[in-house]
Amino acid sequence: MNKLEQEISKRRTFGIIAHPDAGKTTLTEKLLLFGGAINKAGAVKSNKIDTATKSDWMEIEKQRGISVATSVMGFEYKDLKINLLDTPGHQDFAEDTYRTLTAVDSVVMVIDCVKGVEQQTEKLMEVCRMRNTPVICFINKLDREGRDPYDLLDEIEEKLDIQVRPLTWPIGMGKTFKGVYNLFSKNLLIFKPSKQQLTAEGIEIKDLSDENLNKNVGDTLADQLREDVELIEGVYPELDKEEYLSGKVAPVFFGSAINSFGVKEMLDTFINISPQPKERSTEERIVKPNEEKFTGFVFKIHANMDPKHRNRIAFVRICSGKFQRGSSYLNVRHDKRFRFSNATAFMAQDKETVDEAYPGDIVGLFDTGNLKIGDTLSEGEKGIYKGIPSFSPEIFKEVINKDAMKTKQLDKGLTQLMDEGVAQLFTFEMGARKVVGVVGNLQFEVIQHRLKNEYGASCEFAPMNLYKACWFSSNDKKKLDEFVKSKYRHIARDKDGKMVFMAETKSWMQMVEDNFPEIEFHFQSEF
Ligand code: G4P
Repeated sequence: MNKLEQEISKRRTFGIIAHPDAGKTTLTEKLLLFGGAINKAGAVKSNKIDTATKSDWMEIEKQRGISVATSVMGFEYKDLKINLLDTPGHQDFAEDTYRTLTAVDSVVMVIDCVKGVEQQTEKLMEVCRMRNTPVICFINKLDREGRDPYDLLDEIEEKLDIQVRPLTWPIGMGKTFKGVYNLFSKNLLIFKPSKQQLTAEGIEIKDLSDENLNKNVGDTLADQLREDVELIEGVYPELDKEEYLSGKVAPVFFGSAINSFGVKEMLDTFINISPQPKERSTEERIVKPNEEKFTGFVFKIHANMDPKHRNRIAFVRICSGKFQRGSSYLNVRHDKRFRFSNATAFMAQDKETVDEAYPGDIVGLFDTGNLKIGDTLSEGEKGIYKGIPSFSPEIFKEVINKDAMKTKQLDKGLTQLMDEGVAQLFTFEMGARKVVGVVGNLQFEVIQHRLKNEYGASCEFAPMNLYKACWFSSNDKKKLDEFVKSKYRHIARDKDGKMVFMAETKSWMQMVEDNFPEIEFHFQSEF
């Protein structure tokens, strides 16, 4: 193994996904504590935007600040360099989460044992499945009266369409929660509620008939555990690492993040089985991480909090070779080289200047408007990395310029905010009307506020009756032209100039699909 390969084999880059309130922030904090990256609980700030304060601009700005600080948290654990990528909790910023998921090699999914699989989790899982991202599940809050563990496993299989394999099993729940049994190492972990202590002590019980089990958890729960383990070992085949790596099977852990319980078991398994940085496809070929030449792509852009300086931080996932600060790299979209003398690495909550970085790492590059989400940077490679899809937004509003003197500023501001991925802009072919599409209303407020503050432009948003924006394709060029001609009034262009059909209602969409069977409609930009 050469130096580059050694560095790659040490990297694990992953994200934690969860429905808000399931315990993502708490789990993140515990992982950082294990890694020694922080030394007390309470240090990690939630990136949640409280709905009660959602129209409070200071709150949003504050949140934006927090989310830069905690966007990437690097820590070391057992000689591995782990990069944890944070995903926005608020569903109005779901697009940001989808994009972050393109930069990770695996995910940990947190599920609240009281609430089970929630809506946001289902959506996030869909994104993971598009890329066969390996998933580990952590079922949280076992100290609360939750749902039956078998029901939870069935629900994961059913709603998330992935097979499960429990690796720990809970003994009791809520008031009677006694701990978990590690099915793999055959260890019993006794639960002692504590927000401070980091690990529970394991009691080895190689043979479940051991009387020690009864002594620790009582006769009823001991018998129940024996029954459960027999059933689980009978029903679920042994975990096959390859199946996990291909995203087919998710290992499942039970625990209580706030009590640091069951977290270490998950982390230890994670470092054993989770994938190191993998090869990735550009439009031209597959690039291996151990290729000497540097390549990477921008998956997130964050504007400076100071409105006087319109500079931004672009987050780049390194895919191959070694990144070196001060080198000039090709921005494939512009076919132009740029020198990046200001590069930042993220360690827990600190940012520090980084001189070199390896595949799996994320570096923050200082940018003055040359970079855009999805951009590929390279030492010469000409292909663009695939895989940052846009999804059809849910809510559409037309942009109304309120200050004709500031039209230029408005256009520039809109373009730059769209490059950052704040929302999606569609421009109608007819009349060049501009429509902004978002996942949640909060995004409109952010756009309006930022256009005013950072660009001095005023706009309003007029509601539009639109159901979906969908991309379309066909093998039959003639039919495609016919379709565009007949629906010209409803055709717009997305940020990349791709044509999009703006459907007004669901039933109309259905009708159009029936009337144009040769046209394929897609609800995301990559097909
Ligand atoms: P999120 O980032 O996924 O949105 O969730 P977060 O970690 O902020 O956790 C949401 C709430 O759940 C928090 O309570 C947190 O303390 C609690 N929590 C996390 N893990 C556990 C657990 O294992 N057991 C129990 N019982 N609760 C847990 P909160 O009241 O919203 O906030 P706080 O005031 O406690 O910080």
